[in-house]
Amino acid sequence: MGRRARIVLLPGDGIGPEVAASAASVLGAVAKRFGHVFDLEPHAIGASALRSDGTPLPKRTLDACLASDAVFLAAVGDPAFDAAPPDKRPEKGLLLLRKALGVYANLRPARLFSGLNGAGPLKLEIARGLDLVIVRELTGGLYYGTPRRLDIAGGTAVNTLPYTTAEIERVAEVAFRLARSRRKLLTSVDKSNVLETSQLWRTVVTEVGRRYPDVKLEHQLVDSCAMSLVLSPSRFDVLVMENLFGDILSDECGALVGSLGLLPSASLGDGPGLFEPVHGSAPALAGKGVANPIGAIASAALLLRHGLSLDAEAATVEKAIEAVLASGARTADLAPPGAAGTLSTAAMTNSIVNALEREH
Ligand code: NAD
Ligand code: IPM
Ligand code: MN
Repeated sequence: MGRRARIVLLPGDGIGPEVAASAASVLGAVAKRFGHVFDLEPHAIGASALRSDGTPLPKRTLDACLASDAVFLAAVGDPAFDAAPPDKRPEKGLLLLRKALGVYANLRPARLFSGLNGAGPLKLEIARGLDLVIVRELTGGLYYGTPRRLDIAGGTAVNTLPYTTAEIERVAEVAFRLARSRRKLLTSVDKSNVLETSQLWRTVVTEVGRRYPDVKLEHQLVDSCAMSLVLSPSRFDVLVMENLFGDILSDECGALVGSLGLLPSASLGDGPGLFEPVHGSAPALAGKGVANPIGAIASAALLLRHGLSLDAEAATVEKAIEAVLASGARTADLAPPGAAGTLSTAAMTNSIVNALEREH
C-alpha cells in the first residue's frame, strides 16, 4: 500500500535551492517507484524569508513544519546579513525551528564510500573502514544558554553552556540505542578536565550506560577526539556530544570522507523530524550549478527512514548514491582542482535518479 505524506521543503539560501531541487527530484522518483504520494510544500526560511517577510522564520513556515510528517531543509546563510543583529540573521531561523520542533538529537553519519578512496586528505590505509555517526545534542548547550550578551563598546560578551540531567539523558539514550544497532561502541566526547557542564555530562552518560551493558562506553576529551578522528577514524562507531562540539567535529568528518557536500543529517525529537545536509549555503558556489547534491539527497534518504519509516526506500536511495560514486561520477568538490568531466548538480542528481530507477 502506498503512503501519503506531507513534507515541508525549506530551500533557504545560497546553494540551498539548488540542492533542495535535487532532494525533491529524488523524493519524486521514490514516490513514483514505490507508489507513494509525497506532497512537497515549499516555504521560506533564512535570508530569503528575511527578504520576503522581514523575519528568518515566518509563522506560516513554522506552522507548516509543526503540522507536517517531516521537514527537509537545504541551507540558510547569506553574507549580506553578517552584520545584522541576532534576531535578523538567517541562521536564527534554523535555530528557532530546531527548538520549536524539539529535535534534540542530531544524527550525522559519515562513511567512506567505496569509489571515493583518495578523494579526502587521508591516506587510504587510515581512511579505510571509516563509518561513524556523530550524535550531536541540538537544542541546548552553548547555542541556547542564557545569559548571553554582546557589548562591543563596553568590551564584554557572555555565552553560557548549561545542561540538565534530563537533556543529557535523552540524547544519550538515542546514542546508546544507535550504538546497540551498530558496532556497539559509544564514545562520549566532552571537556570534563575544564568544564563543570562536561563533568555532569560524563556522570549522566555513564549512568545511562548501565542500562546498555552490551554497549562499550568510552569517554574522550574533545581536543584529543579531534586528533583521533584524523589519526584513526575507523576505530569510532557512535559518538555523542554537546551541540557546539558536534558542529565542529562533524565538519571535520566532511573533510575526512572527501567533501562536506556529502554529509547528511537527521534531527529527531518527539514530533516531525528535520532533515538537513551538514553543509551550509556555500555562497561562493551559489547559482553556478556546481554544488554537490549528495548531502541533500542522503538527507532525503534519512527523511524516508527516520521521518516516514520507509526503510527499503531509504536503502534504495543510499544504494543509488553508492553505485553512482563507484562508477566514477564526481562533482567538482570530489575531483582534483581543474579536473575535466566533473558533473553539475543537475547531472549528478540525474545519475542518482537513474540509478534509483534501476536499483532493486
Ligand atoms: P559551508 O558549509 O557553506 O561551506 C564550507 C565549504 O564547503 C566551502 O568551501 C563550500 O564551498 C564547501 N561546500 C559546502 N557545501 C558544499 C556542497 N554541497 N558542494 C560542494 N562544496 C560544498 O560553510 P561556511 O562557508 O562556513 O558558511 C556559509 C554560510 O552557511 C554561513 O552563513 C553559515 O552560517 C551557513 N551555514 C548553514 C548551515 C545550515 O543551513 N545547516 C550549515 C553550515 C553553515
Ligand atoms: C550546522 C550549521 C548551523 C549550526 C548554523 C547554520 C546555525 O553550522 O547545521 O552545522 O551551527 O548548527
Ligand atoms: Mn555546522
